[in-house]
Amino acid sequence: MTQNAYIKEIVRYGLENDQENLLAVLNQLIEHSRKSKRINFALQLQSILKEGLKHQQTKGLAKVGSQKFLLKEEERIIDELVIDKLTSDYTLENLISNKTVREELQYFLKEHHSIHVLEDFSLPVSNKILFYGPSGCGKTLASYVVAGELEKLIYVINLGAIVSSKLGETSKNISTIFKKAATEDSIIFLDEFDSLGKVRDYNQDHGEMKRVVNTILQLFDYLPQETIVIAATNQVNMIDEALLRRFDLKLKLELPNKTQIRELIKLTLQNTPFKIDDKKRLTRIVGLLEGQSYYFAQKTLINAIKRTLFSLEHKKDVSLNVDLCIWEEIIKTSN
Ligand SMILES: Nc1ncnc2c1ncn2[C@@H]1O[C@H](COP(=O)(O)OP(=O)(O)O)[C@@H](O)[C@H]1O
Ligand SMILES: [Mg+2]
Repeated sequence: MTQNAYIKEIVRYGLENDQENLLAVLNQLIEHSRKSKRINFALQLQSILKEGLKHQQTKGLAKVGSQKFLLKEEERIIDELVIDKLTSDYTLENLISNKTVREELQYFLKEHHSIHVLEDFSLPVSNKILFYGPSGCGKTLASYVVAGELEKLIYVINLGAIVSSKLGETSKNISTIFKKAATEDSIIFLDEFDSLGKVRDYNQDHGEMKRVVNTILQLFDYLPQETIVIAATNQVNMIDEALLRRFDLKLKLELPNKTQIRELIKLTLQNTPFKIDDKKRLTRIVGLLEGQSYYFAQKTLINAIKRTLFSLEHKKDVSLNVDLCIWEEIIKTSN
């Protein structure tokens, strides 16, 4: 069947409230998408399906101690700590970086693409990455790139929220998520990884914090080779030495230099009708942006594009040149 045929069937069964056939066709469509290499679409459908089933299961009352109750309990923990469970369409082309970072990431992806070769020779597979560096320079983006390139789901975990709220339950909760992600062959993304160190500074319960760090050390040590953990921080010096040592790859994502700022502008305008033609003024703007993050450069450019559009609204024959005076003004006032 073609994708359209599946969709027609799904609509029909949906309208007829025929749950059984609807699920059967939906599963066929997931399989079909997987085979025809639309992996992200397949993952997204699967996630919608799971969500739907979950809602149905949790609608009824669950008895404490029953299987259903335990399932709900696990899901509650996961819902609380996991900000998001996503698929990603990002690829390496979306991330601007220096040569070292690019090459190291390429090797990392290669390891996972040829994981069976490595396993055949009993070679260890790198599966723990730490991205560090100033905010707005691509740590989150790089994690999504890894997920997109490997076509894996990514669990985004809010470590800051876990650690400050219920310290007592943190060890158990983190273990639950690791277990779940491992069975699904997903990526675990621990954002604000430095929160682990911070709590100690706030002089909270020392023993409890030690236990959390120990749990994470153990989870790292027994992580299945195919499960990937990515951590991100903008305060690498806050992180426990023993934890740092566990990462196979520690990559610093830095503020962009002038060449990289130009690359970002090109990337942002690519596939849009907008252009920049005043080379001299652009050079000045690139100079102004030096020392700022990728995020800042991109955000101000996008604002400038929007305002350019508004200023052109009533004119005929709009030339889609970004108004660099506007951009310069935005940069200066945002600083
Ligand atoms: N190195 C980069 N290459 C391309 N775009 C970037 C880069 N860093 C940041 N950006 C842009 O800024 C946005 C925010 O960056 P993010 O990854 O959240 O930074 P961080 O996690 O380091 O604070 C990204 O979604 C992207 O649009
Ligand atoms: Mg981030």
